[in-house]
Amino acid sequence: MAAPRHFLQFKDLSSDELDYLFERSRVIKTRFKAYQRHWPLQDRSLVMIFEKASTRTRLSFEAGMQQLGGSAIYLNTRDSQLGRGEPVEDAAQVISRMSDIVMIRTFEQDIIERFARHSRVPVINGLTNEYHPCQILADIFTFIEHRGPIRGKTVAWIGDSNNVCNTWLQAAEVLDFNVHVSTPPGYEVEAERAGLYGTDHFEQFADPMDAARDADLVTTDVWTSMGFEAENEERLRDFADWQVDVEMMRAAKPDAVFMHCLPAHRGEEVTADVIDGSQSVVWDEAENRLHTQKALMEFLLLGRVND
Ligand code: CP
Ligand code: NVA
Repeated sequence: MAAPRHFLQFKDLSSDELDYLFERSRVIKTRFKAYQRHWPLQDRSLVMIFEKASTRTRLSFEAGMQQLGGSAIYLNTRDSQLGRGEPVEDAAQVISRMSDIVMIRTFEQDIIERFARHSRVPVINGLTNEYHPCQILADIFTFIEHRGPIRGKTVAWIGDSNNVCNTWLQAAEVLDFNVHVSTPPGYEVEAERAGLYGTDHFEQFADPMDAARDADLVTTDVWTSMGFEAENEERLRDFADWQVDVEMMRAAKPDAVFMHCLPAHRGEEVTADVIDGSQSVVWDEAENRLHTQKALMEFLLLGRVND
């Protein structure tokens, strides 16, 4: 049995494969909008395992699998044996014998890596403490739709060097663009945790205005990610100056777009006039989770198709 392809980190896909996926996402989206049936995964089943809350990821994977002709099964740690200490390796053996593809949202990256090593079927990272590769797939597809190729462009990341930030940094290495990061002191990017080869594609800035300067895309995320709630009070104080507002958007290029993976906290990491303003593409970004993940599941199960 050939080893399955997984999508555990952004760099698991090559730039050539990503170019294919972005083009395929466009085709799949166009067909979906035209109500054309596209059922390449008829009779296949996706198992979705959630150890953390979700709206977009659950909905886009579940609806996406149904739209591809298959079905989706939802498991969480509260009411399955996963929450009662069954080894992740045993769970992987069993779940992957009863399904065709698995998506997992969990805590440490190590959990999903161990699951994948014992899985007979492709495993997709639906967010870990370290990475959120499906999010950046959708974000880059959204950028391409609005502004064309991302190669050589500059993305400004303002705020926490979290899972979404790490994934932008990996994507910059694979697709050859730049990320300007500004975090409060003590929250800087850790290159090893981000899984980077080097520091050629990113630069850290003490002042968020400097990071935003001349950027093609400005993006941020919550100050407190899931799993870090105990630090919330401290983070509210530490991140107060790392809010994306109109003045910061003015420092970026005049045609810069604003992105946020959502859910957002207006008045914390972003002001309402930015996220609800004319440069914001957050609703397209959220919708594109659906189209890009359909292309991803099709690719991981069937390889490249050109129908
Ligand atoms: N952006 C994102 O992953 O949203 P959910 O937490 O709602 O899935
Ligand atoms: N960084 C956030 C992203 C949520 C989609 C978190 O991990 O909670």
